[in-house]
Amino acid sequence: MIMSNIFSRLLWGILLFSMACGLTDEEAARRAAVAKQTDTTKATPDGMAIFRQKCVLCHGSDGTLGINGAKDLRQSILTLEERINIITNGKKLMTPFGTILSPEEIQAVAEYTQTFKK
Ligand code: HEC
Repeated sequence: MIMSNIFSRLLWGILLFSMACGLTDEEAARRAAVAKQTDTTKATPDGMAIFRQKCVLCHGSDGTLGINGAKDLRQSILTLEERINIITNGKKLMTPFGTILSPEEIQAVAEYTQTFKK
């Protein structure tokens, strides 16, 4: 009886200890994530997020929608420089994004369009 009492206290001790450790790990990870988000000095723009915001209207989320004569981005054979040029200056019905997005954002979204390639 006494033995089992000691044993169960020991178990509780271990359990509480490991829970406390788990919490601190979680807290540390959360703080690291927040620090990363708020560090704008070397943040790379998120090409996918920009694409979802500005481009899906005509190109669709997978690049194939083709609204307003938009080219199928999966079939595109353009280089990164050519993509950056079209995104910056527009073409036919495509909006010029040179005044809407920063050069870094244009580069990021141009790189993202390259991921559609089959
Ligand atoms: C208003 C509709 C519209 C929006 C919004 C739009 N596009 Fe386009 N996009 C087009 C059209 C139309 C073309 C085809 C131009 C042509 O005839 O060569 C095109 C062509 C392109 C091309 C060249 C494809 C190729 O192989 O010729 C790229 C790359 C591209 N768009 C990327 C983007 C990105 C990135 C965004 C968002 C920042 C975007 N587009 C937003 C309509 C749009």
